[in-house]
Amino acid sequence: MTDSEDDDVPQLSAYALAALQEFYTERQRQQQPGPDEDKKFTVGVIEEDWQLSQFWYSDETASRLAAEAISAAGKGGRIACVSAPSVYQKLRELSGENFSAYLLEYDRRFAIYGEEFVFYDYNNPLNLPETVTAHSFDVVIADPPYLSDECLRKTAETVKYLTRGKILLCTGAVMEEAAAKHLGVKMCHFVPRHTRNLANEFRCYANYASGLECD
Ligand SMILES: C[S@@+](CC[C@H](N)C(=O)[O-])C[C@H]1O[C@@H](n2cnc3c(N)ncnc32)[C@H](O)[C@@H]1O
Repeated sequence: MTDSEDDDVPQLSAYALAALQEFYTERQRQQQPGPDEDKKFTVGVIEEDWQLSQFWYSDETASRLAAEAISAAGKGGRIACVSAPSVYQKLRELSGENFSAYLLEYDRRFAIYGEEFVFYDYNNPLNLPETVTAHSFDVVIADPPYLSDECLRKTAETVKYLTRGKILLCTGAVMEEAAAKHLGVKMCHFVPRHTRNLANEFRCYANYASGLECD
């Protein structure tokens, strides 16, 4: 092939190639078989994807947060888990209890949970399906993906839209002031743990007298 023929071969820019690669990687990920039915709600059954800032709670922490949400929601209560899939999974493991639970999440692998999965991107805080109505959840628990004021502010917009009052938040200790400003929550004594050790200190916050022992 001569140089001039070579020039005629259509070429993709590095940007287009990277976008194509990302598309195929995402498609491959979505096509992977889901977990077995009996393990469907086990915390950690869907592997962490660090590109999405995923850090799963330890089983004990997921249980404690789920128990708190059930107790705060009351009989027949509605619980929204915003970017907190492990709490949703733990709630579903305890499905004998009298409550309903929904997961608002960006990672579409969690769509295996059917109608209880709601696609959600914190960048579009109120871009939610019509079925998710304002102030329709007794408890909202959120764990935003990033430790930034912008991410917390936008997540807070969603949380305030969803909640009838009670809010639980898990995020870094460094976000204490921002959490108080955006959601009126206070730091709890209970310290959440993750399956892997995180570099940042994590804490729970609440806006009501929770069993997580807040100041
Ligand atoms: C720090 S993790 C919190 C998970 C929690 N520790 C648990 O075990 O359930 C952040 C969560 O935000 C989700 N996430 C990532 N990007 C997001 C986005 N753009 N909008 C909403 N959620 C997002 C991740 O998939 C992940 O579930």
